[in-house]
Amino acid sequence: MNILVIGSGGREHAICWALKKSPRVDKLYCAPGNGGISTIAKCVNIDAVDIDGIVRFSKDNAIDFVMVAPEEPLSRGLVDALESAGIRAFGPRKDAAVIESSKIFSKNLMKKYSIPTAEYETFTDADSAKAYIREKGAPIVIKADGLALGKGVTVAMDLETALQAVDEMMLDRKFGDGGGRVVIEEYMTGPEVTVLAFTDGKTIVPMLSSQDHKRAFTGDLGPNTGGMGAFCPSPNYTDDIAEICMSTIFRPTVDALANEGRVFKGVLYFGLMLTPSGPRVIEYNCRFGDPETQAVVSMLKTDLLDIFEAVVDERLSEIDIEWRDGASCCVVMASGGYPEKYDKGFTISGLDDVPGDITVFHAGTAKSGADFITNGGRILGVTAIGESLTSAAKRAYEGVACIAFEKAHYRTDIGV
Ligand code: AMP
Ligand code: GLY
Repeated sequence: MNILVIGSGGREHAICWALKKSPRVDKLYCAPGNGGISTIAKCVNIDAVDIDGIVRFSKDNAIDFVMVAPEEPLSRGLVDALESAGIRAFGPRKDAAVIESSKIFSKNLMKKYSIPTAEYETFTDADSAKAYIREKGAPIVIKADGLALGKGVTVAMDLETALQAVDEMMLDRKFGDGGGRVVIEEYMTGPEVTVLAFTDGKTIVPMLSSQDHKRAFTGDLGPNTGGMGAFCPSPNYTDDIAEICMSTIFRPTVDALANEGRVFKGVLYFGLMLTPSGPRVIEYNCRFGDPETQAVVSMLKTDLLDIFEAVVDERLSEIDIEWRDGASCCVVMASGGYPEKYDKGFTISGLDDVPGDITVFHAGTAKSGADFITNGGRILGVTAIGESLTSAAKRAYEGVACIAFEKAHYRTDIGV
């Protein structure tokens, strides 16, 4: 089969890496891909949101199957467009992707179907939002309604920060039109866990649990980022909690979407908080997470293409999905200054010195002659597996120690 993966980050590198192992994959393409992905797939210079361009390329190049990884093309209807052109595609249609592209939609869905989440109100004007914040007091959480690259959330520990966040989102439009409407919600506490689940709209198969590290600096300090590292599985996610999540969150969510006429097929991302009153949803995403995917896919034994096809063909119940024992850990190496301002174009050295059992997924690199250079905020996801989380993390950091580029920044506490 000829496969096209859409996207350009570490997540897409991990998906390509896993697909590459399938004996049924003939040609593997990635649009637009990155420097690292170009070593295992043919990168084609089409933007991930260029829907017409992707449909045309797929037809012209006899693509049998398209895997759409990022939220932006999903929420703009890339899967719908591919299906209309007769091309099989993995990922939710536009009407189901709204579970990520509108926080108001997802919060209202949870309320309607009694799925546990933080109490909230939605606002379309700044004055009433601020009045509500003054009434409730801090800590309190402010979220832009639309897509904001994982950065449209302010967890405000004091009133001033909360009011300022409203101004930035609603008046300054820091996140564009996505901030025209906001959700203001109750502050929850407890360990966070990510559960990615395959679903064909009927059957749900949760993957191993994982844990992201959203803050920029060691010790969970600094600004929120797209994710500075992940490990899998999460020690907090016990079998008992998994059972509760299936019956109170996963099953009800998939059924709710189907009931609303928005059947969800693809990967549903559950961002959970294990609060003192039980697991509750922080957020949904309509896709694989980044960098959780790098850690989770490293643990997968089953052919990923078999799973993708089973989802698309609605026969997920027929296949067995197997995982390795032990744990995995992905440490993100980022550009100094990320998530704010950073420079690009630095040569990355030492990649060839990384031991073969460690996988370096490229997130933001480009090729420059024989070298790789930095080309983004997050650069690499150095990923190792081990018998325990401790050994996986130790090994991942041994990989990190081999690699250098100017102003490289990484956290020293992923999985530690
Ligand atoms: P999100 O983009 O919705 O995942 O939010 C980013 C981060 O903000 C989450 O990973 C949590 O750490 C934090 N967060 C979001 N919502 C809440 C909440 N209601 N209470 C406490 N922390 C939250
Ligand atoms: N790791 C968080 C996300 O992918 O949104």
